Amino acid sequence: MATVISMINLKGGVGKTTLTVAMAEFMAAEYGLKVLVVDLDPQTNATVALINELEWRKRNIRGQTLLNIFLDHLSKYQVFSLEEAIVHNVSNVNGGIEGLDLLPSSIDLIEVHDEFLQAIPSLPINPLHLLDDVLRAALSAYDIVLIDCPPDLGLICQNGLMISDYYIIPTIPDILSTYGIPQIINRIGRLQRENSISIQPLGLVISKYRQQSEIHKNQANLLKIHAPKAGYRQVFNTFIPEGNLAAMVMDYTLHFNSLREKYNYSKYYQIYKALTEEVLSCVQ
Ligand SMILES: Nc1ncnc2c1ncn2[C@@H]1O[C@H](COP(=O)(O)OP(=O)(O)O)[C@@H](O)[C@H]1O
Ligand SMILES: [Mg+2]
Repeated sequence: MATVISMINLKGGVGKTTLTVAMAEFMAAEYGLKVLVVDLDPQTNATVALINELEWRKRNIRGQTLLNIFLDHLSKYQVFSLEEAIVHNVSNVNGGIEGLDLLPSSIDLIEVHDEFLQAIPSLPINPLHLLDDVLRAALSAYDIVLIDCPPDLGLICQNGLMISDYYIIPTIPDILSTYGIPQIINRIGRLQRENSISIQPLGLVISKYRQQSEIHKNQANLLKIHAPKAGYRQVFNTFIPEGNLAAMVMDYTLHFNSLREKYNYSKYYQIYKALTEEVLSCVQ
């Protein structure tokens, strides 16, 4: 059975998607794990980092994205098929990494979301279980499932948390990015109590770290000191530095022959590898 990990922060732009994609690639390419990325964010950033945009458009029209998990409950047509929606061997490395799969998201989820919320009272199903219902049977085919959550704690995000064993909070070590951490922990705690699920925090990942910044240094230190009491378990030892390369490699139109080449033989290769190893050592 797969270990399911949600990447979550209420703030956008903290590096959730970049980290999700990098860890998924390292887990599959370097550790030979069978990995599924579930892109729960309507911004579809993980999706278009892992498959080309044209492919996504075709799939979106055919109803082969996460959108139809929700949309199908609003219409009399059942379009979604998990088998058809999952894209196999994705990534801009090596024409696709074997063992790395994607359940794509859809921008149209933004439109459907409100309509869906209004329809909830008349639905014959618990709206927190929609993802669970379609994905549960497929989980045994994977070692790890990484869920790229939207930057909120809405219904779609909660669907992801409901099937997660763990969550990771990627954060920039500054005041605004860390502001919502207590809310995340409290809300997930409530979700856990109300639904008898067993999701646990794995830790904080410090991202876009600026070594020269006193604010970053101090805030990262404080986050470490407060870890035992704050409820997020730990701060991972590996920090992801801020740098253009981390942003650049998310462009699917670029092609790389290996992860080392993707990270231009720079420190990023070792950093993502070390972080992936830290995360895996906590869940295995
Ligand atoms: N380590 C990094 N250094 C510099 N820029 C980064 C880094 N990680 C991510 N970015 C860039 O920051 C922006 C937000 O990152 P993203 O991973 O999309 O965050 P989120 O998913 O939390 O919104 C993107 O433009 C991305 O390319
Ligand atoms: Mg994102």
